[in-house]
Amino acid sequence: MGLSGSVLGFILVVAVSFFCVAHGDPLVPALCIFGDSVVDVGNNNNLQTLIKANFLPYGRDFVTHRPTGRFCNGKLATDFAAEYLGFASYPPAYLSQDAKGKILLAGANFASASSGFYNKTAKLYGAITLAQQVEYYKEWQNKVVEMVGKARANAIFSGSIHLLSAGSSDFVQNYYINPLLNIFYSPDRFSDILVQSYSTFVQNLYGLGVRKIGVTTLPPTGCLPAAITLFGSGSNRCVVRLNGDAISFNNKLNSTSQDLQSRLPGLKLVVFDIYQPLLGLITKPTDNGFFESRKGCCGTGTLETSVLCNERSIGTCSNATGYVFWDGFHPSESANQILAQDLLEKGVSLIS
Ligand SMILES: *[C@@H]1O[C@H](CO)[C@@H](O)[C@H](O)[C@H]1NC(C)=O
Ligand SMILES: *[C@@H]1O[C@H](CO)[C@@H](O)[C@H](O)[C@H]1NC(C)=O
Ligand SMILES: *[C@@H]1O[C@H](CO)[C@@H](O)[C@H](O)[C@H]1NC(C)=O
Repeated sequence: MGLSGSVLGFILVVAVSFFCVAHGDPLVPALCIFGDSVVDVGNNNNLQTLIKANFLPYGRDFVTHRPTGRFCNGKLATDFAAEYLGFASYPPAYLSQDAKGKILLAGANFASASSGFYNKTAKLYGAITLAQQVEYYKEWQNKVVEMVGKARANAIFSGSIHLLSAGSSDFVQNYYINPLLNIFYSPDRFSDILVQSYSTFVQNLYGLGVRKIGVTTLPPTGCLPAAITLFGSGSNRCVVRLNGDAISFNNKLNSTSQDLQSRLPGLKLVVFDIYQPLLGLITKPTDNGFFESRKGCCGTGTLETSVLCNERSIGTCSNATGYVFWDGFHPSESANQILAQDLLEKGVSLIS
């Protein structure tokens, strides 16, 4: 963490404590979340898909020690972010029973595991496309208008933080394994298609009155334990080709974001770099209190995710605290906590 990062972090912590303790109010009216399994809190539980995580050992270290649909042993980075922002509860999965009444005023989560910027990735797995997530978001807006009236609702829409985390599934669960894509498109061309979809997403939200958006970069996809197993040609190291594609995608995401930011007046659009922080945890685990970054905790830790990571998986670790990854694709709760701190430091401009 750089000095300016520490200072911002400190200011933020002070601000958070002041607001929360003094008023019991969150720093922004609501938090809405879009994307894939990195941020899904249970929307896929309600879908006909194999890509689910609503069974143990998922959730074993969560507040309730129960599975929720989160692809993690405990909290996601966005759960920590909600806490830091002063929310008393996490935005509910929009398709769940919890997503009704006044609780919706503090936001909702529209993310769906195996979704992405590319419609066909979601369709391949029976997940909710990003376009459909925006349709649900419009429905959410209508419900908020009904509850508090147009004027207050508009203030909620413009003042709230909207987070998007997608792209990993597009590459790892679609592009790299799908000849229909990787024969016809270079990684560069595929990235352009994804970033175009991202641009549409931002403009759609902007048109709906949204003014604060945060988007995460791709992680070092070549270092995900399952990616090393699938694409590492027997080596035990991060797959250089995949990481290169992720860096190149991230650069496009960044320049497109700067372009959108300058074209859409009043928009605050922050790119959260999770590539470098996660790569740091992976390459220097012990510097950060971890001891394992090659394997996830669940099962053999080299591949299992979703239905393959279950109570019968052999080899699941008893204590995931020292693991950077929980399963073959997803960071552990302890890694998410560190990623969320980074998120907050860079997200200060979204709060004011
Ligand atoms: C995704 O699907 C929606 C509606 O089905 C369509 O409007 C949109 O153009 C598609 N986006 C991409 C990137 O294919
Ligand atoms: C995005 O670009 C800006 C300016 O070129 C740079 O300072 C920043 O580090 C980049 N962010 C990421 C996530 O690459
Ligand atoms: C889990 O492991 C961490 C260190 O990796 C340790 O600090 C903690 O006490 C352990 N928890 C339990 C319940 O053993």
